[in-house]
Amino acid sequence: VAGAWWIFGSDEQATWDKVQAEGKLVVGMDAAYKPFEYQDKNGEIVGFDVDVLKEVAKKLDIKLDLQNTSFDGIIPGLQAKKYDLIMSAMTITEERKKAVNFSDPYFNAGQVIAAMGDNSSVKGVKDLEDKIVAVQLGTTGDLKVSEMEGVKEIKRFDTIPEAFIALQNGQVEAVVNDLPVTAAYIKEHPEVKIVGEPFTTEYYGIAFRKEDTELKEKINEALAELKQDGTYDEIYAKWFE
Ligand code: ARG
Repeated sequence: VAGAWWIFGSDEQATWDKVQAEGKLVVGMDAAYKPFEYQDKNGEIVGFDVDVLKEVAKKLDIKLDLQNTSFDGIIPGLQAKKYDLIMSAMTITEERKKAVNFSDPYFNAGQVIAAMGDNSSVKGVKDLEDKIVAVQLGTTGDLKVSEMEGVKEIKRFDTIPEAFIALQNGQVEAVVNDLPVTAAYIKEHPEVKIVGEPFTTEYYGIAFRKEDTELKEKINEALAELKQDGTYDEIYAKWFE
């Protein structure tokens, strides 16, 4: 019954009941991360994550309400109930698992280094020593570069496009970021290159508040169906082949 969900308080079914009652799922994402979530020329949020979630929503007979938010505050925003879940090319990490629960992995991607095509001094991870490196604030790229020794300076940007602009302006010498997103950027900006191979293995998951086990199960079931019935592969082919 619409409006009655909140009487369950922090009960594990509360969010799933609310989603069903309202007929929509409120999603937190940083929509500046092509091809996973970004705004097309009409301002509509589109991408691989959006397509996967649309199919999940179809299976659950609900609509999507996409909320564009900054990646750095995205987990606190989930805790504050600004949205029901996060789908934002988010890597499943042990640290984040302390705060949220993740769905089954739905994508794998690693960190790569990008540099200007004519830069011959950045050839691999060890060359980041004494360099100014750009990352997106609060990402696994940020974490990895923060762990490296000898990096001259880390410039942390709110979004990845800003990090690439800094690279092209010569303010930084490298950007560390997820491979598929960097590859998509290079398609449109061939003056930028990828250096070496991915140096991490990461899996993306949808993030939920700890108590929302029911919602997580529903989403996992729908994801598994998409993988089985070929829908996932179709979406993958649309964005990556
Ligand atoms: N996979 C990386 C992480 O989890 C980067 C994700 C950034 N996502 C975004 N929509 N900006 O930290």
